[in-house]
Amino acid sequence: MPSVTQSAIACIRAPLSTIETDLLVVPWYEAEAPGRFGELDRATSGEITRALSSKEFAGKPFDILVTPIIDRSWKAKRAAFVGAGVESEFDVRLARRLATTITLLARQRRIESLAFVLRPGLPDPSGDVDVAGYLQAIAEGLTLAEFDGASYKTGEAALGRAPRLTIALTDMVDTSPESMPRCEMAVARGRLLGDCSNLARGLTNEPGNALTPREFAARAGTIASEGGVSVEILDEHQIAALNMGLLLGVARGSSEPPRLMVFRHSPPGATGPVLGLVGKGITFDTGGISIKPADGMERMKDDMAGGAAVACALRAIGKLGAPMRVIGVVPATENMPGGRAIKPGDILKSAEGKTVEVINTDAEGRLILGDGLCYKHKMGATHLVDVATLTGAIVVALGKLTSGIFGTPDWWVDQVRRVGDRAGDRMWPMPTDPDYFEQLKSEIADFTNTGGRPGGSITAALFLKEFSGGLPWAHVDIAGTAWAEEARPFMPKGATGVAVRTLAELAFTSDAWK
Ligand code: BES
Ligand code: MN
Ligand code: ZN
Repeated sequence: MPSVTQSAIACIRAPLSTIETDLLVVPWYEAEAPGRFGELDRATSGEITRALSSKEFAGKPFDILVTPIIDRSWKAKRAAFVGAGVESEFDVRLARRLATTITLLARQRRIESLAFVLRPGLPDPSGDVDVAGYLQAIAEGLTLAEFDGASYKTGEAALGRAPRLTIALTDMVDTSPESMPRCEMAVARGRLLGDCSNLARGLTNEPGNALTPREFAARAGTIASEGGVSVEILDEHQIAALNMGLLLGVARGSSEPPRLMVFRHSPPGATGPVLGLVGKGITFDTGGISIKPADGMERMKDDMAGGAAVACALRAIGKLGAPMRVIGVVPATENMPGGRAIKPGDILKSAEGKTVEVINTDAEGRLILGDGLCYKHKMGATHLVDVATLTGAIVVALGKLTSGIFGTPDWWVDQVRRVGDRAGDRMWPMPTDPDYFEQLKSEIADFTNTGGRPGGSITAALFLKEFSGGLPWAHVDIAGTAWAEEARPFMPKGATGVAVRTLAELAFTSDAWK
C-alpha cells in the first residue's frame, strides 16, 4: 500500500530577488501594469512589459508566460506569470486552480523546483478569506498536481516528478513576521488535504479487478488508520449478523464478498455533536441483472468514489485532530449479474426492518447506503452526510462541474454547501419535497428502489431519507463530479477527489451547528 509521506511545502517570507528556485511563479491580474513587479520586469529585461503590450500575455485565467531571469543578482532561474483574471473576481478557488496548473506544467517540463508567490492582499469577493485561507488553498492546489493517474503505464512517464515546492510571501503581503507560524500551519493543512484528495483519486482510479471490496477495505483501512482513526472492517458474516439485507442483496450477484468499513475519530473528552459520514463503495457497477450497456461501462470502476472520499477525509480528520467525534461508514460490494444475483421484483429487508421491492438492480447505491445510514445513527451519529455516485440523472441536471446536494433541514444543507464552496467542491441544492415519494410506491413492499426517469436524483435522495432516522442529513450526489471526462488546465482526466476536503473541513465547523 503506497502511503506516501510527502516532503513539506516550504513557506518563506523574503524579497523576490532572493528566492532560490527554478521557476518563480507570479499570478498576474488582467490589465495589470508591471508596477508592483517593476524589478522583476527589469530582471527579465522587460519581458513582461513586452508580452503585455504585444498581447501575447493578457492575464486571462490560466494564460502562462515563462521567461528566463537574466539578472544574475536574482536567485531564481526563470519566472512564470500565470493569468489570474479580473482582480476583483479573484478567489480561493482560482488560487487553488492556478497552483495546480503551473505545477502540472512544471512537471511536463521536468522543472525541479517551483516557488509560488502569494500576491499582496489577495482580495476575496466573499470577504471572509484571509491570507491563511489563500495559503491553504495554494498548498492544496500545488499538491493536487502531484497526483499520477497513469500508474499502470510501463513506458516513460508523460509527467516528470513533482518539483520541490515553496510558497513565497513577499514584503508586499500584509503579514507580520510574527504571523509566520500561522502561515506555515495553513500551508501544512493545505498540503495534507491535497494529499488526502490524491489518495482518494488513487483509489478511485484503480480498476475493478485490482480494487475488489476486500482490497478496497484493506487499503482504505490503512489510509484511515495512518491518520490515527480507529478502523473496523466487518466481513460478510458480521454483515449478515447485523441483518443488512440491502447490502447483502446487492452483493449476492458477485463471487467477491462484501465489506463494511467503520471508521471512528474520538478525541479524548469530546462531547457534543457526532458527525456521521457515509460513502457509497460499489467497486464496480455492472448494473446487475438490469445490466448496463457496454458503451462506457468501464467508467463504473469509479462507483466507490464516495466511499474513498469518506475514508480519506477521516485520515485528514485524524491527522489534523478535529475537535469533534466523527464516524465514517462505507458499505462496499460489487454489483454483478451472477447466478445468485437479485432480480427485478425481489424484495429485500433492510437492517432497520423496512422492506424494499427491487424494480431495477442498477439502483444499487441507495440500497447499500440505506443499510449504511441506519448503522450510523445506531452508532450515535447526530448529523449525517452521505456522498455517492448515485444517479445519471444528476449529471443531466447539473453537468460535470457541480454536485447535487439534498437533505434536511435547510441550515444543515447550507452548512455543508458553504464549507464545500471554500474547499473547492461546488454543490447546488436540489428539492426533497415529500410529494416525490409517491413515485416509490410499491404494491407489495414498503417502497420500491426506483421512481422512474422524472426527477431520478430526487427520488433516489428520498429513498435515502427513509434511512436517515430523522437526523439532520445531507446527501451529495457526485455522479457527475467524481470523474473528469475532459482534461482542464488544473484537472487531468480521471478521478477528481471530490468531497474529501469538504468532509474533512466540516469536522472543524461544529461550533456553528444548531
Ligand atoms: N452508479 C450509477 C450512477 C452513475 C451513472 C454514476 C452515471 C456515474 C455516471 C448508479 O448505480 C446507477 O446505475 N443509477 C441508475 C439508477 C436508475 C436505474 C434508477 C441511473 O442513474 O441510471
Ligand atoms: Mn447502478
Ligand atoms: Zn452505482
